[in-house]
Amino acid sequence: MSPFALTRTLPLDATTAALRADVSTGLTRSPKELPPKWFYDARGSELFDEITLLPEYYPTRAEREILVARAGEIAEITGARTLVELGSGSSDKTRHLIGALPSLDHYVPVDVSESALRGAARTLLAEHPALTVHALVADFQYGLALPDTPGPRVLAFLGGTIGNLRPAERAVFLAAVRAELAPGDALLLGTDLVKDERTLVAAYDDAAGVTAAFNKNVLTVINRELGADFDADDFDHVALWDAKEEWIEMRLRARRAVVVKVPSLDLAAHFTAGEELRTEVSAKFRREGVRAELAAAGFELDRWWTDEEGRFALSLSTPAGLPE
Ligand code: AVJ
Repeated sequence: MSPFALTRTLPLDATTAALRADVSTGLTRSPKELPPKWFYDARGSELFDEITLLPEYYPTRAEREILVARAGEIAEITGARTLVELGSGSSDKTRHLIGALPSLDHYVPVDVSESALRGAARTLLAEHPALTVHALVADFQYGLALPDTPGPRVLAFLGGTIGNLRPAERAVFLAAVRAELAPGDALLLGTDLVKDERTLVAAYDDAAGVTAAFNKNVLTVINRELGADFDADDFDHVALWDAKEEWIEMRLRARRAVVVKVPSLDLAAHFTAGEELRTEVSAKFRREGVRAELAAAGFELDRWWTDEEGRFALSLSTPAGLPE
């Protein structure tokens, strides 16, 4: 049996259909808005990897610090044979976990970016030839349909990506994850934490402009996939902290009045000067909020680890009885 398999739960044309639907609703509503998953074509995934190396972008380093410190404990507590990773990207951080889990023989990376999945699998299989890798090109927000691999399973959702979902989406998502897990399985969740506004905003508005390029990449994706005529230079990158919602918002602000044509949708989107297109929320969490959201989905929070500076948290939860 080949140690590598790749399954597409979302066929390519369904991906295009989803992009078309998101662009057509997102550019005609007010305020204009696009879901952040469309950042991640090959170029976007590359730009995100660059972001993780920026001095201002602390979450990746903070989470890696926790993973390195706690991998042994995670191995002991879970005894995992299968590691499922949602939004795995380059699987960079997962490397520490995979090396530390002695019983692990199956790795199931799930991502919307096929190029990222193939690159990650190549590197991982070179390092761990005994590992069976079953990559899933899927949108974790819609139907997980995980391959049948041996338990106990640890499902990891790292990087703080759960913060890119709105609270109502998080509830649906966590309930779906809970439904995939059996007694003895565990959820390993990475959450970025609330902290001072300056640190947060700098992480999403770096001096080198990499996050700005990442944000604008979504326009390139729409141009290429749907034949739109966005000019990235017509837009400014905006990152702001919403203290009430406790999330960072990324937006693209029109520098002047702009009309963007999307011929394949028979659409002309009008931006007034200064009008903003919302491209991402990135929620920041507190322990009690995470515990409550997990409990509502039928998880019990068993461990809560932070980095030395308390910037980021990794939590380990197990299936509990569903609350009344
Ligand atoms: C790591 C995917 C959760 O919200 O921090 C980085 C992506 N966006 N800079 C985040 C991101 C802007 C991101 N995730």
